[in-house]
Amino acid sequence: MGRTNNSMFNVNKFKLGVFSPNCSGGMAVTKVPERWDASWENNLKLATMLDDAGIEFILPIARWTGYGGETDFQGSNLETITWATGLLAATQKITVFATAHASFHHPIVAAKMFATMDQVSAGRFGLNIVCGWNKHEYDMFNMALPDSHDVRYGYGQEWYDIIRRIWTAEEEFDWSGEYFNLRHVYGNPKPAHGEMPPIMNAGSSDQGQDFAARNADYLFTVLIDLESGKQNVLSIKEKAKGHGRDIGVFTTSYVVCRPTQQEAENYHNYYANEQADWPAVDRLMELQGLHAKSFPPEAFTLFRNRFAAGHGVYPLVGDPDHIADEMAKIHEAGFSGTTITFVNYTDEFPYFRDEVLPRLEAKGLRVPVS
Ligand SMILES: Cc1cc2nc3c(=O)[nH]c(=O)nc-3n(C[C@H](O)[C@H](O)[C@H](O)COP(=O)(O)O)c2cc1C
Repeated sequence: MGRTNNSMFNVNKFKLGVFSPNCSGGMAVTKVPERWDASWENNLKLATMLDDAGIEFILPIARWTGYGGETDFQGSNLETITWATGLLAATQKITVFATAHASFHHPIVAAKMFATMDQVSAGRFGLNIVCGWNKHEYDMFNMALPDSHDVRYGYGQEWYDIIRRIWTAEEEFDWSGEYFNLRHVYGNPKPAHGEMPPIMNAGSSDQGQDFAARNADYLFTVLIDLESGKQNVLSIKEKAKGHGRDIGVFTTSYVVCRPTQQEAENYHNYYANEQADWPAVDRLMELQGLHAKSFPPEAFTLFRNRFAAGHGVYPLVGDPDHIADEMAKIHEAGFSGTTITFVNYTDEFPYFRDEVLPRLEAKGLRVPVS
């Protein structure tokens, strides 16, 4: 693995990305007035802050409709390919991912768009591939979401194989597969420096993890607790080894960082309990439980509050020492890094930057921005 000019391959042992700022509410299913407004202005301001602070990447959620409730959680969502292109043009160092549903973008169009984004940024584009889970959104497109994970990921594999072939082929080619029949296919320019952009995938089913093991540089996985997370990392890395590949594993967490533990816990209780948008939480949990395997079944009964606080992902709630210590534990469990989210990204990131990043540097997990 390696790539010219792409921060996903830098020296930091524990990498950080910011997740979901393109969606209203971000990852917090809450009614508090300061909840995230996913306007372009806010996204641009955030991306500039992250770029200056040496954060490795920004990762959007590809969403086509919201979850309802009082706030219509994630109901306003900037389209990730055009969003990422704008941010890549406006930043200097950070990797910006697009999140693409294989089913919704023809692979010839997708290969061209992604190569263009990589040219715009001289190699800072990353691709997060989604093979489908949200039936409600598939209905919107009048497309059937296949029940079988074999079909979902089989289609995704063919889609990505075509893109990769376009990115490397010097001559036109024909494609005759199970899902695509294409004639004299070609695409130029290729991605920058003639190198493959970093690929991320968040499959959770056996088929999903196998897809990541075969194709991705990084797998995203939900962390329920550190012990099971550690086992998960080992098993995924083993799977990738079976394909002669090395893979990094990221997890995803939400951050409430305040000067004292008590202040952090109070705010957490306020936004994710007293002011939670419960109808939206229930809708989110229902859809996740029905069609995806991101969360084990017990997570839905144990972690209703986690869904309100951060879409079900791992909580990092406390003072700066606590947050840095928890991140060190995630690193020790074998993860390459984590994404982070905040109730209000631009209000809360500066405190995280000023207090937590130096602590991670002191632990030897990151180096200061030069
Ligand atoms: C960190 C993370 C990010 C994801 N991003 C998206 C996304 O942006 N859009 C989407 O529709 N699904 C997204 N998913 C869902 C996954 O791509 C996948 O469909 C889901 O985890 C179910 O896995 P399975 O299909 O293997 O059961 C994400 C999942 C995780 C854990």
